[in-house]
Amino acid sequence: MKSRTSKKQDPKSTTQPTSETINWYDHPEWYEAGFLKETPTEARFLEDVFRKYVPFPVERILEAGCGSGRLVREMARRGYAVTGMDLSQPSLDYCAKKLKEMGVRAVLSKQDMTDFHFDQPFDAAFNAINTFRHLETESTAANHLKCVAKHLRPGGVFVLSLHIVPSDGELWGTESWSVKTPQYQIRYSLTVKEVDLDKRIEELKMTMKVSIDGQEKKLTDLLRLRLYNVDQLKSLLEKVKALELVGVYDFWFDISDPCRLSKKSCDVVLILKKKA
Ligand SMILES: C[S@@+](CC[C@H](N)C(=O)[O-])C[C@H]1O[C@@H](n2cnc3c(N)ncnc32)[C@H](O)[C@@H]1O
Repeated sequence: MKSRTSKKQDPKSTTQPTSETINWYDHPEWYEAGFLKETPTEARFLEDVFRKYVPFPVERILEAGCGSGRLVREMARRGYAVTGMDLSQPSLDYCAKKLKEMGVRAVLSKQDMTDFHFDQPFDAAFNAINTFRHLETESTAANHLKCVAKHLRPGGVFVLSLHIVPSDGELWGTESWSVKTPQYQIRYSLTVKEVDLDKRIEELKMTMKVSIDGQEKKLTDLLRLRLYNVDQLKSLLEKVKALELVGVYDFWFDISDPCRLSKKSCDVVLILKKKA
């Protein structure tokens, strides 16, 4: 995402929070705080998937669009040889700093997930929480899937999590949640501002209200994501012959509770296997 212009208010004001339009991914610590609670569940699920679907021990893994690296760090801590790839330098720098603090290693690489290159293949790869939907066109989405497939060992898996629009689903809405730590409190909200069904793009207003040292900062970003319904997702998957859909789950990340892609599907985790 590109940085946007900033609009500042008097920082000394105690009644009005300071307000800035930013790129969320330039603030990796605050961004990821909103998703840290889910991280152990997602990491455990990835390990369950490796055990269930991969016919060899999984060691080398890749995260596409790893951002601040909450999953890179968790999987490295669990003993995997992890590579994280992203375009956001502040996020990669933050991840490197946290890895050093933890005393664990991972490879971090600034590359585009639609056209990346690594010398060695991976046993498994993953792409979490709608990162895939940053790819705004059919061709960039297909390129990503093909590039991942090219980098997987035959029999290896790609775990892809994304929100799709159910046939009776509401396109408009707001989602809000809060996170409190001893250092700060952050309130997050995501609101759908624009929907273009022809271009299959939704524009989300993302707000973080960060309370820190008695001051409140309001940070706002606009994010464009590609929309999928189940047929559009199936049609895209059909274009990538090297990957076969072998499992579907939802955002409960429960390996004992697989589901199917259907018109009612909403939050899906696809298990795509590299064909032999
Ligand atoms: C929603 S964040 C997810 C971060 C991380 N996967 C997680 O689960 O916390 C999406 C990330 O995708 C990255 N991204 C977007 N487009 C990209 C592209 N074309 N290539 C590589 N990374 C990209 C952004 O920089 C951002 O860090």
